[in-house]
Amino acid sequence: MKVLVIGGGGREHALAWKIRQSRLVDELFCSPGNAGVAEIADCPPLASSDIDAVADFVARHGIDLTVVGPEAPLCAGIADRILARGRAVFGPVAAAARLEGSKAFSKQFMTRHGIPTAAYEIFDDPEAALAHVETRALPMVVKADGLAAGKGVFVCDTRDQAREAVHRLMIQKAFSGAGRTVVIEDCLVGREASFFAITDGERIIPLVTCQDYKRVFDGDRGPNTGGMGCYSPATHMTRDVVLEVLERIVGPTIRGIGREGAEYRGVLYVGLMLTDDGPKVLEYNCRFGDPETQTILPRLASDLVPLLRAAANGNLAGVRAEWRREASVCVTLTSQGYPGHYQKGKKITGVEQFGGRHDLIVFHAGTRSGPGGEIRTTGGRVLNVVALGPTIAEARRKAYDAVSRIHFPGMHYRKDIAENVAPAANAGQEGSAR
Ligand code: AMP
Ligand code: GLY
Repeated sequence: MKVLVIGGGGREHALAWKIRQSRLVDELFCSPGNAGVAEIADCPPLASSDIDAVADFVARHGIDLTVVGPEAPLCAGIADRILARGRAVFGPVAAAARLEGSKAFSKQFMTRHGIPTAAYEIFDDPEAALAHVETRALPMVVKADGLAAGKGVFVCDTRDQAREAVHRLMIQKAFSGAGRTVVIEDCLVGREASFFAITDGERIIPLVTCQDYKRVFDGDRGPNTGGMGCYSPATHMTRDVVLEVLERIVGPTIRGIGREGAEYRGVLYVGLMLTDDGPKVLEYNCRFGDPETQTILPRLASDLVPLLRAAANGNLAGVRAEWRREASVCVTLTSQGYPGHYQKGKKITGVEQFGGRHDLIVFHAGTRSGPGGEIRTTGGRVLNVVALGPTIAEARRKAYDAVSRIHFPGMHYRKDIAENVAPAANAGQEGSAR
């Protein structure tokens, strides 16, 4: 098989790493990739925003399976273009990716299908949104409808903050078209969690649970990031919670979007609030998480490619995922200043020593090879150090020991990833399609 992975972050390095191990795969491409990916795959310089160029490449090179990492090309219809060329793709068509691409659509979808989520109203008119802010109970949450790289959500404790959020999104157009429409919703209280499932549009294979860390500094302080680290399994995602999420949320979502004429083939990533009334959806994503993927895939003992291929082809029946019992911890290393402004081009040392192990892996994100063969930083999130161990505490110790041997100027990371996690009664959700 020839496989193409679209994207160039840590998530895509983890996907390429796992796909490379498959005996089914003869040729692996990843575009644009990064310095780590380039060691295991060919990296043609395609812009993932140029979905026609990607579809041309797929057709010209006879790619058997394209695996799409990020949400933007999925929402722009990359899967539709590849399918139109008669080629298989892991990742939903645009009509299904709207679950992530439009929060207004996803809220109305949940209402239509009885899927638990916060009460909300949708506004196209800034005056009406501002009037609504005056009447709504505090705290309230103001969200841009469209894709805003995770920055379009404002949890507002005061009416002033809510007015300001509406101003920024609808009047100042801080995210251009993404904030033309806003959702204003109730603030949910509880513990946040996320959940991933691979689906062929009918059958569902849950992935093992994990917990990421969004804030940039220890103790969950500072601004939100794409993710600073993660561990798996997530001990608070008990078997009962997982079953409830599958039954009340994931199943109805996959069936619902199918009934609306858009079969969902790919991975569904649900952001949840575990409330006293049960799990409720904060958001849908139509893709794998980053760094959740780097954390989860080293725990997958079986081949990933049959799963991805069967989901893409609509025949997951009988396909199984086998998971290792070991726990996993991922620590993300970032450039100083991330998620704000940061410098690039810093020389990285110490990563070479971690090649070839299954229990200690360095997944690259924002890296490139320099002229002398050295590796340099080129992004906010630079590297992900992932360790497996018999317990989360042991995996954590191993991950931080490896981190201490890696260096680049301005390197930042959280010191409290997977700290004080209660030992798991393993969520025990591994298994076959349901
Ligand atoms: P979203 O992109 O919709 O997941 O929102 C980003 C973050 O905002 C979430 O991870 C939550 O921390 C927070 N958030 C979003 N919606 C709500 C809500 N209804 N209640 C409480 N917090 C929320
Ligand atoms: N780590 C959060 C995300 O991938 O959206």
